[in-house]
Amino acid sequence: MSYGKIIEKAKTTHVLTKDEIILLLTENNELLFKAADEVRKKYKGNVVHLRGLTEFSNICRQNCFYCGLRRENNAVERYSLSKEQILNFARNAVDAGLKTIVLQSGEDMSFDVDKMCDIIGSLKIYDVAITLSIGERSFEEYEAFKNAGADRYLLRIETTDSVLYRKLHPGMSFENRKECLYNLKKLGYETGTGIIAGLPGQTISSLADDILFFKELDADMVGIGPLIPHPQTPLKDAPKDNFDIALKVMSVTRLLLPDINIPATTAMETIRTNGRIIALQSGANVVMPNITECVYGKKYEIYPGKIRTTDSPSKCTERIREKIEATGRTIGVSKGFRKDTE
Ligand code: 5AD
Ligand code: SF4
Repeated sequence: MSYGKIIEKAKTTHVLTKDEIILLLTENNELLFKAADEVRKKYKGNVVHLRGLTEFSNICRQNCFYCGLRRENNAVERYSLSKEQILNFARNAVDAGLKTIVLQSGEDMSFDVDKMCDIIGSLKIYDVAITLSIGERSFEEYEAFKNAGADRYLLRIETTDSVLYRKLHPGMSFENRKECLYNLKKLGYETGTGIIAGLPGQTISSLADDILFFKELDADMVGIGPLIPHPQTPLKDAPKDNFDIALKVMSVTRLLLPDINIPATTAMETIRTNGRIIALQSGANVVMPNITECVYGKKYEIYPGKIRTTDSPSKCTERIREKIEATGRTIGVSKGFRKDTE
């Protein structure tokens, strides 16, 4: 089938074979981005949802090869926020009009069930959707967070190539990660996953498998970020130019999962001027402004150059808002669930 025919098929049926996905990921053709933009518009409208991201602890027990927060990186000054600080940042975000708070951290086990549930319960008074992004936990813990009021959970599969997964995640299990994702779905979370595009050893074929996995899981959210090699990690010398492949994976994901929420990731903005706007015009419908005050945020260096300004989080959100509105899109006023039709 020709490229154009495959695009038409994806736009109308939202189903492609692996070979067809591979072709879309291999060629460079503007038709893909245009089609993803059209599908986004048809299923999600012109609304862009903002999610306020709080990086509440950079302590992590894991040692992922790509990540600046990996436990063996002794150059990071570790911090964790108190409940009061987290609530304070969330409060500012709510005042700035945000309807979702994302609590993100390394795998910091000092935030145990009781502590997390206490924070989640306290956040609920702001009438916001709560998204957790705190890594692998047991079914029982996920259940407790859900009962405390968490609505969504982000856990990227990172890559579905199990051999590559093992190489990049010493001491972790690919099977367990998958199980975590299925547990989250079972518990009724809106479940987000995603990958890093540009990992050394990753192939176009495995990226096609990643997209098929998003569909198999029926992911409610998918975040795709380009690898940005971090100097204090084993992947420091990996190729850097990963924007285009990340964008292609994101656009194909939009074609195959037409109604899900897809963020224009911060990593995209970090390696390409206006990367976030380009992503919003190629299938994305969500932006996650950082609401962590700079003193802490700058220590949360997953990858180098993670964009932040010296502006306060509310100023920062305001600027993002203006940029988005300048492209003719509007900012969501609802919590922005997958099935939300506002
Ligand atoms: N480049 C790009 N993305 C990264 N992440 C971690 N390290 C890097 C890096 N060097 C991503 C992972 C993780 C998310 C929070 O950040 O996909 O799930
Ligand atoms: Fe820890 Fe997440 Fe970084 Fe892995 S990617 S080292 S789990 S913070």
